[in-house]
Amino acid sequence: MSHYFTNDNVKSNIKKIDAVLKGKRYSFFTDIGVFSKSGIDFGTRLLLENINNIQGKVLDVGCGYGVIGIFVRDNFDCFVDMIDINQRAIELSKKNIKLNSLEKIKVFFSDEYKNVTERYDYIITNPPIRAGKNIVYKILISAKEYLKDEGKLFFVIKKEQGAKSVIKDLNDIYIMSIISKKSGFYIISEQKKQ
Ligand SMILES: C[S@@+](CC[C@H](N)C(=O)[O-])C[C@H]1O[C@@H](n2cnc3c(N)ncnc32)[C@H](O)[C@@H]1O
Repeated sequence: MSHYFTNDNVKSNIKKIDAVLKGKRYSFFTDIGVFSKSGIDFGTRLLLENINNIQGKVLDVGCGYGVIGIFVRDNFDCFVDMIDINQRAIELSKKNIKLNSLEKIKVFFSDEYKNVTERYDYIITNPPIRAGKNIVYKILISAKEYLKDEGKLFFVIKKEQGAKSVIKDLNDIYIMSIISKKSGFYIISEQKKQ
């Protein structure tokens, strides 16, 4: 069975969706085989509605068709890198950057952080829960290696997907704040402990 994060030979049917994020209209090409292809995920939307004062260098981990990176680049004075393990998602993100007329965004293939060579002011992710707890923990815990000293990790997680244990388990390495809670989704900010 194929998942939204694999690259096997899934048929293609590219569609364009429109979305309003924080009062502004965006368009995105989506396709079979990528996460939340019919519309922006509720958790992603809640995450974007609750992040502020972003500047510097941002990494969008598991970018899918590019919603987080594109929104952040469009709304804040920053450079954005986006990574995903799904080649189709990467190609869609590239198309969507052009579609939304944005610059200063780079998209590249990476399994977790394997191809990431820089350090960032912010790492932002709606992590791939369906890839399993191991991968999610690796993405969230290893983020500290790719954050600058004052850097912050922002992510969304649902209560029933283990939000409470993730919060507890990350406590040793980050200073955590819950910045929003809605319909069972938690938006969490983690600052590196010095
Ligand atoms: C929940 S989706 C979020 C997509 C997009 N950021 C959004 O909010 O709509 C998680 C993404 O992580 C990607 N992913 C899964 N495993 C990964 C891995 N090992 N390394 C990098 N990305 C991965 C998936 O392909 C998917 O696009």
